[in-house]
Amino acid sequence: MKDADCVVFLQWALPRLGLRWPGFRKVRRQVCKRIARRARELGLADVSGYRLHLDSHAPEWDALAALCTVSISRFYRDRGVFDCLGDKVLPALAEAALARGAARLECWSAGCASGEEPYTLAIQWRHALQPRFPRLDIRVLGTDVDAKLIERARTGCYRVASLKELPDAWREKAFEKEGLLLRLKQGFRRGVEFEKQDLLEQLPHDRFDLILCRNLAFTYFDSARAQASLERLAGRLRPGGALVTGAHEKLPPGSPFAEWPGCRAVYRLAQAD
Ligand SMILES: C[S@@+](CC[C@H](N)C(=O)[O-])C[C@H]1O[C@@H](n2cnc3c(N)ncnc32)[C@H](O)[C@@H]1O
Repeated sequence: MKDADCVVFLQWALPRLGLRWPGFRKVRRQVCKRIARRARELGLADVSGYRLHLDSHAPEWDALAALCTVSISRFYRDRGVFDCLGDKVLPALAEAALARGAARLECWSAGCASGEEPYTLAIQWRHALQPRFPRLDIRVLGTDVDAKLIERARTGCYRVASLKELPDAWREKAFEKEGLLLRLKQGFRRGVEFEKQDLLEQLPHDRFDLILCRNLAFTYFDSARAQASLERLAGRLRPGGALVTGAHEKLPPGSPFAEWPGCRAVYRLAQAD
């Protein structure tokens, strides 16, 4: 399929799915390949044929939505953001948790892909924070709309390439070889749980000290869905809690968050008076 034809198709289809084209610009090739494959499976000549098919087959929109999910992730993605979490944000949240007598720091990774992000947090906690806060444990909930990714997250097995940003010493301690893959050792999975959940439809019951929602709502969702997501995330955070976004994402206007001083892509929910 020609790139230009796919771009025209995406600019037509994405808004109808509540998604925004600019978020897909850089990753369009993988999405276009999937759409071309789907059109072939349906015996359609090209993307114009697929567009006509969508016009007359409403359930195909769900199939298209699945083709438009992007699941790229890596351990310690955006090094500066995780450095700042380790240096400033997690210690502050840990102090606050201890001050209110909590035994655990509650964290949620919304749109966790295959578990890279929640496991990064667990590894970082065990290596860098646990020795400073021995009375505090961590729990990380990872949720994703894609059941296959959640299954993969539970296996804890990864290709070496997805670990290249993780500090070497942490990687060597936390992983063991399993054929060509690396498997996360059990001790680093403690406190990490996964659930299939659509951010737009379901929410965890708990309140969290830290929520990561990176490279999902504020990149791919249209403004109404991004706004709704922000309100839902804010509703699950404790006052004073932190929200982490993708390094290049902007929060929708009028958000109840203030930038976390000295940290890129980290925001603090205002404390109640
Ligand atoms: C690009 S990945 C980001 C992964 C990770 N947060 C990161 O930044 O490395 C986006 C993830 O969001 C998931 N996702 C898409 N729509 C979702 C929704 N409505 N609810 C929950 N997860 C969703 C996708 O399946 C995908 O795994």
